Amino acid sequence: MIITSFRCKRGEPEIAGDSEGLVRKPADRKEETMIHPIKNRRSIRKYRDQAVPDDLVLQVLESARCAPSGDNTQPWRFIVVREEYTRQKLAEAAHKQAWMMMAPVHVVAVADIRVRVRDGEIALDETSPEWELKQIIRDTAIAMEHLVLEAESLGLGTCWVAWFTQAAIRPLLNIPADKYVVGIITLGYPDEAPRARPRKKLEELVRYEHW
Ligand SMILES: Cc1cc2nc3c(=O)[nH]c(=O)nc-3n(C[C@H](O)[C@H](O)[C@H](O)COP(=O)(O)O)c2cc1C
Repeated sequence: MIITSFRCKRGEPEIAGDSEGLVRKPADRKEETMIHPIKNRRSIRKYRDQAVPDDLVLQVLESARCAPSGDNTQPWRFIVVREEYTRQKLAEAAHKQAWMMMAPVHVVAVADIRVRVRDGEIALDETSPEWELKQIIRDTAIAMEHLVLEAESLGLGTCWVAWFTQAAIRPLLNIPADKYVVGIITLGYPDEAPRARPRKKLEELVRYEHW
């Protein structure tokens, strides 16, 4: 039997497979499951005045790169912004959310419709009817949340920011009209430990076998 394994950048193989098909390696202990970073994560809006090392930024981006996407189209693109002037402009464009400035890194997540629509002129905004736009936003959001959860595992804080318009953000970063800015993830060392915000109970969310 041919055993293949796929390693991420650190640690043991994440997935073990054989010639008959992929087999997932179960987490050895309950403590190793994803539920811990998932439950500990909070939106962080206060950051320490401390730079995030490049290798950690690369690691969170790597986790985004590994995300699944429809037809494996991988529409996500990321712009890493460290420059103070640009972060200030992004914060202003996001309805003057001044707290964003505290985060030493902004990761701007952009969905590229060209993975699905090759030809023709396309100008995207919040009212765009293209059905492919929904798909690339969906896929990019998955990758963004990978990034957020990996940041949490590394002791970094994040906050999603999506309160802006395409028209406000695009010119700041020279983003063409056929790309769609899905969100900005602020990234840095947390300087607050907010309480968990409420979530609906599972009973409200889950139905079995039919609606
Ligand atoms: C798509 C999206 C957009 C968001 N936009 C903003 C934003 O512009 N500004 C902000 O302060 N928080 C923003 N948030 C954070 C939410 O307010 C936060 O996730 C929610 O209140 C739950 O809190 P928690 O993340 O701490 O669990 C956004 C979250 C998501 C998922």
